Amino acid sequence: MCGIVGYTGTRPVQNILVEGLSRLEYRGYDSAGVAIEQDGALQVIHRKGKVGSLAHTLGHFDFSGTCGIGHTRWATHGRPSEANAHPHVSCDGRIAVVHNGIIENFAELREELEAAGHAFSSETDTEVIPHLIEEACREGADLFQAVREAAERLIGAYAIAAVSAEEPGVLVAARKDSPLVVGLADDGSYVASDIIAVLDATREVVVLSDGDVAKLSPDAREFYNARGERFQPEVAHVDWDVDVAEKGGYPDFMLKEIHEQPRVIRDTLAGRLVNGALAIDELDLSVEELNLIDRVYVIACGTSYHAGLIAKNLVEGWARIPCECEVASEFRYRNPIITPTTLVVAVSQSGETADTLAAIRDARVKGARVFGITNVVGSPVARESDGVIYTKANKEIAVASTKSFLGQVVSLTLLALLLAQVKGKLKMNQVRLLFRELADTADQVERILLECGPAVDAAAQACKDAASALFVGRGMGAAIACEGALKLKEISYLHAEAYPAGEMKHGPIALIDEGFPVIAVATKSPVYDKVVSNLQEAKARGAMVVAVATEGDEEIGRHADHVVFIPKVRDAFSAVTASVPLQLFARAIALERGCDVDQPRNLAKSVTVE
Ligand code: AGP
Repeated sequence: MCGIVGYTGTRPVQNILVEGLSRLEYRGYDSAGVAIEQDGALQVIHRKGKVGSLAHTLGHFDFSGTCGIGHTRWATHGRPSEANAHPHVSCDGRIAVVHNGIIENFAELREELEAAGHAFSSETDTEVIPHLIEEACREGADLFQAVREAAERLIGAYAIAAVSAEEPGVLVAARKDSPLVVGLADDGSYVASDIIAVLDATREVVVLSDGDVAKLSPDAREFYNARGERFQPEVAHVDWDVDVAEKGGYPDFMLKEIHEQPRVIRDTLAGRLVNGALAIDELDLSVEELNLIDRVYVIACGTSYHAGLIAKNLVEGWARIPCECEVASEFRYRNPIITPTTLVVAVSQSGETADTLAAIRDARVKGARVFGITNVVGSPVARESDGVIYTKANKEIAVASTKSFLGQVVSLTLLALLLAQVKGKLKMNQVRLLFRELADTADQVERILLECGPAVDAAAQACKDAASALFVGRGMGAAIACEGALKLKEISYLHAEAYPAGEMKHGPIALIDEGFPVIAVATKSPVYDKVVSNLQEAKARGAMVVAVATEGDEEIGRHADHVVFIPKVRDAFSAVTASVPLQLFARAIALERGCDVDQPRNLAKSVTVE
């Protein structure tokens, strides 16, 4: 949601902050700022816009200070502006704080602080924090103690990094419900919202837990838990490569990540077939417990929700267990039927999404077993679930999910197969056959990436100037269409809706006139003929039809203006293959329209607010 970076050590901090913030920009990019200790004072610089604008301004300075904090923001309280950019400072400008999260009781705290004479200069919730720290320091606390006291007053989610001109070289970091890691290097200590920001400097990191506070200085590190007890932290060694934060020769992260999908499929499936049977040991449920499951809810948001729609088809189709897929922000506020034999599957790329986390907590209180599917090791979703499958997508930088989505679909497919295996609804040889076919999709996606570019580009050229587009499909295709439409609207700002093709005649068909784009998932499936009929209805009204269809389909060309052919796969696996041309289609249109495909407006990679 926002990105935090901090450093204290022996190296000049200015470039460390700028480089770290550039790596964290996927978390928010409407304004950025730094506070650097320099000659007994704090130099605080803010800029509206992306980190590049801040870097440009900082280029006019050459601060030699070796302790500082930085922030890249995704606005929650207060519009994107220089005044609302972090770091925020105390009245005397000698304490600076960066924050990620939401302080729910900021209005009361601000009123109290203003009554005590504190002057505020932004509309943010964050600004109460430096003033609370200042208040505690006035009572004699040092920065560490003051951050702890301030944190105790906060209701909501926070990851905080704070520095004070009164204590040169000291950086205090604290977290609750927002991620924060401390990187341990020979030259000093780093703090960041995401490991990716510190990977250039170190591979040894401490992932702070809720309530932890770290006191860092060039030559010391102290860690305290929520009860104020000092502890020896577990140091994790990060073995993935810093390359994930580089474009590796691709023009943008989105294209790079789309091309990583065959690898994601292979990695997600690796080691899952043991002695001829599916194994997901992390689920932490015995065969007997799994056998008792009589209802499944998949809860998620956005793209992850669309992966859940695919799962609903598979869980019900193979395991014959009733399965509902629900948007987490709705699930958490109604009263779903949950019993101890209900399995709730929470899907979240980032593992931080506030609505999904709240839904997990609610489901557990009501007695469900909760199983997380996430891309981020040690994330809140992973920690708060009873079991977890990691999607093995590796870091996804582009804000629009592509490879994570495929990782989720493959993981959920595995889960559906496992439930069918345990319930005895599929025989072992059927499970093995399906597993092998699923594994084959990695090669098929590779072929799609090699071959479908020209057809996708031609379709994109034809649609790029449209004001709106309709994505349609039936069965699995309807779920794939939802993701295709989301991808297009989030990165190209072209309005798009997804409808089950059979629903078109109940309203959306009124939209169609000459040249209106209808994008159809028309792969070979049990409902192929029905989709074709729906396309004929659209065509009869002048629609420009783009179809994603199965190689060898000689009929589809009669009903579509543009066809993107993809290899034949079993309908159950069509989401893995058919989603790929739709990702490329959205990207091609976005580029034609001059959009930034990696950092679309108004969005952020992890949505840690309700
Ligand atoms: C994906 O392209 C979107 N940016 C967004 O819908 C995302 O999938 C959603 O916010 C859920 O995020 P999560 O998977 O990290 O929970």
